Formats: sequence, structure tokens, C-alpha cells
Amino acid sequence: MTISDRDIARRMATATALARECAALALEHRRDPARMNVQAKGRRDFVTAADLAVERLIRERISREFPGDGFLGEEGGGASAPLLWVVDPIDGTNNFARGLPSFAVSIAFCVDGRPVVGAIAEPVTGAIYTARKGGGSFRDEAPIRVSDVGALDQAMIEYGYAERRPVADNLDLARRLLDAGCDVRQVGSAALGLARVAEGCLDAYCELHLNSWDVLAGMLLVEEAGGRFSDFLAGDGMTRGNSVLAATPGLVDDLKRVTGL
Ligand code: IPD
Repeated sequence: MTISDRDIARRMATATALARECAALALEHRRDPARMNVQAKGRRDFVTAADLAVERLIRERISREFPGDGFLGEEGGGASAPLLWVVDPIDGTNNFARGLPSFAVSIAFCVDGRPVVGAIAEPVTGAIYTARKGGGSFRDEAPIRVSDVGALDQAMIEYGYAERRPVADNLDLARRLLDAGCDVRQVGSAALGLARVAEGCLDAYCELHLNSWDVLAGMLLVEEAGGRFSDFLAGDGMTRGNSVLAATPGLVDDLKRVTGL
């Protein structure tokens, strides 16, 4: 599918504006306990009224501004399309629901199944991370780069887990990282974890399974910031998700060996 630079720039502007607007909407919900309405979706898995309201806002805006584009969102689903928006309205919902600060709004726009625009908002700090294919990665419009850490026993790495993979496998991943001497974190928002890798605060992020709405904006941020990313979109990664390994160039080979990802 061909799309002009001008049309990509329009979508970049929309993604950035939406990320900012949705960060404000999420914070409004968080300030008012009556608007939180936390519901369990499954074991260790929640949805709040803010997840639904943020996704609705983004869907409506996209269908008005870009009526021919497809949409895939965590809460409302969707299907693949040549021009596709992939959105996690609140990534880190469990943190958000408990009043913890690490959650994000993640918006990606893809052409032919690959992200070309990404925007992640971190509502609590007000930071907006953006990336455009071939155009670099930015935090609040300042360029960001991955770190130059190249030794596992100097590395700070986040790993995530969810019910989608067995507990034993999740524990084994953590054990492998700890055995290799890594300083391991588990913060609870994959999108923010990937943004932290892009800006060099973390040196890698890994998880046995994530969905495309958790990943695609962060994947573009990491790649455009000079980092390396596993082949997340292989097979049916867009619709069914995949494992994730995002790392600095200096760590990626050792981490592949240690984690098997
Ligand atoms: C979750 C977060 C978490 C990751 C889980 C995801 P959600 O997304 O990104 O950090 O470890 O695998 O499901 O449910 O908060 O949007």
C-alpha cells in the first residue's frame, strides 16, 4: 500500500494529539473514584471505565479523521487492514486500577502490517514519546537513544508476565535473567517498559507473550532509538501476539542465548 509522507505526517500529528488528550482523560478518571469502575476480566486481569472511555475516544476520532483506516484495540478488538491503528487505551491497567503511577496510552499506526507511527503517553509525568519510521524517537520532542550497556551483569532489564503463559515458564525467564547477573524489574506496563528501553533508562525488556496493542508503538520507539527487537510480527503476531525481546545492540545476542527469545 502506498501512502504519502504528508498522509503519514497527518497521522503522526493525530496520534500525538490523541495520546496527550487521552492521558488527561485517564487522569480525570483516576481523580474520581466513582468513575473508576474496576471489573475483573480474568485472573489478575482488570478493565476500568477509563480503558473503555479512552478507547472510545480514539476510535471515534480515527473514524472521523481517517474513515478508510482499520482499527484494532485491546478492549473492542478489530481486524487487520493495510492501514491500521493498533491501540492500548491503558497499558498497565492493574497499576492504574490500584492508583499506582506506571501506566500509559499506546497508539500505533501501521502500513501493510508494520508500525510507521508510534505515540506513548505517560499520564502521571506528562511525558509523550513519539517515533516515526526512519525519523527517530523522541521524548517531548527531544531525541532519545538506547543505552550503550553491553554486559549482562551491568544491565537493568524489565520482564513482564501474564496469565497467557504458564507460571513455571514466567519464573524460568526471571531465573535465567537473575542467574546471568541482570538487575531485574517488573513494573507492569510493557508500553512504558519499551519506552524506557528507547530512552536508555532500561537496557532491555522481555516477555513470553504480548499482544500487538501492548507492543507496536514501543517497538517502533526502540528500533528508531537504535535498539534491537525480536521478530514480533512473524506469523500471526499482529492478531495473536508473540514473545518480545527488546534490547541494546550490545546485549541482544547474549540475551537471546540466555532467554531463548
Ligand atoms: C499488560 C501490561 C503488563 C504485561 C502484560 C500486559 P494491560 O497490559 O503491559 O506489563 O506484562 O502482559 O497484558 O492489560 O495492562 O493492557
